[in-house]
Amino acid sequence: VFANVVQAPEDPILGVTVAYNKDPSPIKLNLGVGAYRTEEGKPLVLNVVRRAEQQLVNDRSRVKEYLPITGLADFNKLSAKLILGSDSPAIQEKRVATVQCLSGTGSLRVGAEFLAKHYHQHTIYIPQPTWGNHPKVFTLAGLTVKYYRYYDPATRGLNFQGLLEDLGSAPSGAIVLLHACAHNPTGVDPTPDQWEQIRQLMRSKALLPFFDSAYQGFASGNLDADAQSIRMFVADGGECLAAQSYAKNMGLYGERVGALSIVCKAADVATRVESQLKLVIRPMYSNPPIHGASIVATILGDRDMYTEWTVELKAMAERIISMRQLLFDALKARGTPGDWSHIIKQIGMFTFTGLNSEQVAFMTREYHIYMTSDGRISMAGLSTRTVPHLADAIQAAVTR
Ligand code: LMR
Repeated sequence: VFANVVQAPEDPILGVTVAYNKDPSPIKLNLGVGAYRTEEGKPLVLNVVRRAEQQLVNDRSRVKEYLPITGLADFNKLSAKLILGSDSPAIQEKRVATVQCLSGTGSLRVGAEFLAKHYHQHTIYIPQPTWGNHPKVFTLAGLTVKYYRYYDPATRGLNFQGLLEDLGSAPSGAIVLLHACAHNPTGVDPTPDQWEQIRQLMRSKALLPFFDSAYQGFASGNLDADAQSIRMFVADGGECLAAQSYAKNMGLYGERVGALSIVCKAADVATRVESQLKLVIRPMYSNPPIHGASIVATILGDRDMYTEWTVELKAMAERIISMRQLLFDALKARGTPGDWSHIIKQIGMFTFTGLNSEQVAFMTREYHIYMTSDGRISMAGLSTRTVPHLADAIQAAVTR
């Protein structure tokens, strides 16, 4: 009965790792998926995560019972505080419904399913370009996806005018997906002034902000700075949704740990919203896994561990930033044609190089460098040792 099922293409991002794994070359380099690597090119488990896990293992009172549908209560409280700020009036006024979800993707999906069922507008505007999974998540949840202009290939910066025009002509009440910081794939963020203009425009048209926060602490090394955009929208008292991921900032990729917060206008509304989120979650995966959320709750709930985490997080962010400078210098040293200053201007895990899909294919074929075909490279996958190899490949690709 399945004989007519056609072969599906690989995922544009995760499929890069599949291709990389098949390549026997000793010089191969995976700059596809956004996953942090050490200077030695190895995945990193944070010390503080190991410490928290040890503490959890030693605690014999811990059991493997089901979590509630909404997840671990401490984790939810601490996650809301992390993203909205510990002094957030929305939290104090109990206007926030937070549920533990399966990392960023799961949080986006649960939020989207909720909106499809309980919100009057089903159109969501997402940036052009955006993370490849966004349109699929929202479409499958039953929302209609439209794009707003975001990136200007000519300046390799923000197309702010286009963004304002497109959001300005969106229908009243439409949902707008915003990257809280370190926009993926472009590494281009609005300035605080531009955020304020976006906020004013969106509030004046009752557009509903849905933030994707996958890189809090990773963009600048500062957890508060990287949440400023969301906090601006919460400070005005209006509604907003935020999907949080701990994949990158705690290195908990495979633990699938994240949270969805829906900021409402009143406490009784938040209670009802939470009750409906339970109805979304229960038939999807019943209740979330316990281990990753326990690690996060242990770290966020302990002053010492929290501090240790911020130090380790800053070190990751700084290593990524230093790779930007190194790659920029390496291209300059080679006299590679073009203006590569965007490498140091863009922020977060990725550089949107401007290389086209043919150049990317050439670099993979000849240099065994793997990256997404849109020219995005994960700076977190680079090291002092591998930057020259990448610079040689870029030089060859653009002078071919
Ligand atoms: C990425 O964009 O590389 C990451 O967010 C990983 C993923 O799931 O695509």
